[in-house]
Amino acid sequence: MTATTERAVGSDVRRLEGPDKVRGRAPYAYEHELGAQAVFVALVQSTVARGRITAIDSAAATAVPGVLAVLTHEDAPRLGDVVEELRVLQGPQVQYVGEPVAAVVAETSEVARDAAARVQVTYESGAPDVVLTADRTDLYAPEQLMAGFETDSVIGDVDTALAAAPVSVDVTYTTPVQHNNPIEMHATVARWDGDVLRMWDANQGPHNLVPVITEAFGITADQLHITSPHVGGAFGSKAFTHVHQLIAGMAAKVTGRTVKVELTRQQMFTLVGHRTPTIQRLRLGAQPDGTLTAISHEVVEHTSQNAEFAEQTATATRLMYAAPARRTTHRLARLDVPPPTIMRAPGETPGMYALESAVDELAVELGIDPVELRLRNEPARDPERDVPWSTRNLVACLTEGAQRFGWAGRDPRPGVREDGRWLVGTGVAAATYPTRRRPSEARIQAVPGQPYVVSIDASDIGTGARTALTQIAADALRVPLDQVDLRIADSRLPKASGAGGSTGITSWGPAILAAADELRDREVPPGGLTVTGSSGPGEEAEQLSSHAFGAHFAEVRVDRDSGEVRVPRMTGVFAAGRIINPVTARSQFLGGMTMGLSMALHEQTVLDAGRGHFANHDLAEYHVAAHADVGAMDIHWLDEVDEAHNPLGAKGIGEIGIVGAAAAIGNAYWHATGRRVRDLPITPDRYF
Ligand code: MOS
Repeated sequence: MTATTERAVGSDVRRLEGPDKVRGRAPYAYEHELGAQAVFVALVQSTVARGRITAIDSAAATAVPGVLAVLTHEDAPRLGDVVEELRVLQGPQVQYVGEPVAAVVAETSEVARDAAARVQVTYESGAPDVVLTADRTDLYAPEQLMAGFETDSVIGDVDTALAAAPVSVDVTYTTPVQHNNPIEMHATVARWDGDVLRMWDANQGPHNLVPVITEAFGITADQLHITSPHVGGAFGSKAFTHVHQLIAGMAAKVTGRTVKVELTRQQMFTLVGHRTPTIQRLRLGAQPDGTLTAISHEVVEHTSQNAEFAEQTATATRLMYAAPARRTTHRLARLDVPPPTIMRAPGETPGMYALESAVDELAVELGIDPVELRLRNEPARDPERDVPWSTRNLVACLTEGAQRFGWAGRDPRPGVREDGRWLVGTGVAAATYPTRRRPSEARIQAVPGQPYVVSIDASDIGTGARTALTQIAADALRVPLDQVDLRIADSRLPKASGAGGSTGITSWGPAILAAADELRDREVPPGGLTVTGSSGPGEEAEQLSSHAFGAHFAEVRVDRDSGEVRVPRMTGVFAAGRIINPVTARSQFLGGMTMGLSMALHEQTVLDAGRGHFANHDLAEYHVAAHADVGAMDIHWLDEVDEAHNPLGAKGIGEIGIVGAAAAIGNAYWHATGRRVRDLPITPDRYF
C-alpha cells in the first residue's frame, strides 16, 4: 500500500457517491428492487382530533381485488411495550387528525389507495383543543427538557434587577409550527425472512431505530437488519422511529410479503413530527453603557396528548451573555396535535431568534450599535456552568462578518433608506450551537493488497458525511482516499450514534481515529487483521463548555407598495472547529442560512382551530424558500481547531447555520421599515 503524506482532511473532496446519484445508482429506501414482488400499503387516517372509534368496517376494502389485508385496531398484530405515540392500530382511541386508523395492503399502490377510501370508520369525538396561548391555565412545567436540560434556570433576583435597570425591553415573540420537509419522502420497505425483520428505511441512523423496533416486535437485535445507504434529507424528522415503520413491520408479518410503505408529502405533515410553535417573552435590562444586568426568557410551547416533547428553546440564552440576574423557563400545553419532533437546531433556532431580536431592540433603546452591544457583553467563561469555553470565537465572527458585509458607518435610523420602491435595511444576529460527542464504535479490516474496510453505522443524510469520514479514515491510516472502503448505514455494522445534534463528525470521526490507532505499528498477516475502536464523551464534557458560534448579517428590502420582502444578500461567519471538507461544509452553512431565511419569511403551518388539522399540508401551501428567494450568500469560517473537545478538533456544522439567521433578517426588516415584526413569518401583509 502506498503511504501518503498529503492530508485529505481540509481538502475539497467531491461527494464520493455523487456519480452514483446522478446515474440513478444510489437508491433511496423506497427504490430498492427486491426480486420478490413487493406489495404496497395505504393508510386510512383519522378525521377527528380527539375521540374514539366506535365502529370500523373494512369489508368493502377487503373485497377489492388485489387487497391482501386490512389492518385495524381490532386485528392488527399487538406491539410490545413501545411509547404511547407509537401504539399504532392498538386501540380505538384517536388523539390527532391524521392518526392512522387502518392500513390496507395490496398488490399495487393504486389498489391500496382505492381500498383505503372504502374503509368505513365511525367516531365519537369532542372538540379539538389546538390553540396555544401564553395564558392557558393548563400550562405545566415538564420534568426536564429534551437532551436532559433543566426545565428552568434562575440566577439572582431577576425581577428586582429588571425594575432597577436604567434601560430595558420587554417583548414577546412568536414562532409558528414549522415542518421538516426533506426532499425524500419517509419510506420503509420491510420483509420477514423467517424470524428476522429486514428493513430498508429512510432514517438518520439505523441504530437509532433498533431499541424501539425490537421491543415492538419482540425480537432481538440479531433478528433485525436495517440498511439506509442513501437518505434524501431529514432535518430531524428521520431521527426517531415513527408509526409508518411499525406499520411496515406489521403488514409484512400479516401478509408474508415484502411490503413498501411510503408516506405522501401530506401524510408527512402529521406522521413524522413538526417543530413546536413558541411564545417567548424576553426581558432584558442594561446599564446605559450596554452592560446587561438582567435577562429573562420565558417560553411557552406545545406538545401532544400522547407524548411529552419539551424543546430546549431558551437553553442557548443561559450561556450566550452574562448578567448578574438571569432566568429561563419552559412551559408546555398538551394539545390535540400530532407529536412534535426535532427540526434543525430544535430549541436553539426559535430561541435564538427571540433572544437575538430582543438584543437588537435593546441596542435601539440604548443607542448602541448592535454589533458593539454584543461585543460589550462577551462572557469570558460559560456564565451558567462557570467553566471555561473550549473555544469561543463569537467576537471574531462578529468583527470579521462586519468587515465582509460592510457594516461600518451604518446609519442606525430605521426606515430612511430608499431605492425606488424599496426600503432598505441591514441587520445582525449572533448564533450558537452546542458541540457534543456521542458514544460510537468503528471497525477496520486490513488485508494486504486491498483497501482498508472501515465500518461504522454512521449515516449520510445528504450532508457529505460519507465523504468526510473517508477523508478522516484516509489520513488516520495514512493512505490515499481510494484505499479506504467505507461502509455505513447498516444496523449490523458497529454501533454509532445517529446523524443528529450536529454530532456526526465529532462522534464517528474519533471512533475511526481510535480504530486506526489500534492498527498502527501492527504487522498485518497475510490473512488480514481486524481492529475496533470506540469514542465518546470524556472529561471535556464536564470541564469545558463547548459550542460553535457564528454571526449573521443580512440586507433586507421591502416593497412599500406590496410589502414584498427580499433578502438580496447575507453574510455568515462561523467558528465551528476544524472543517473536514470545505465544499460540503459550505453547503451545510448555506443550507442552514437558507432554512433560516425560509423561517423568517415563509414557513408556517396553520392549525385549524375548528377541526384540529394542519390546514396547509403540502409544498403548494407550506412555502419553503426556493432558489429565487435566495440572494448572494457570503459564507466564511474562521480557522479554528478545538482539540480540547475531541481529537479531530471539529465542532459540528449541521445546525449552526440556521441559528440566528431569522433574527438577522427580522432586525434588518426593522431597520428597513421602522416596523418591528415579532411574529414569524414576516409575510408581505405584515407591512400594512
Ligand atoms: Mo437534527 S434536528 O438534530 O436531526
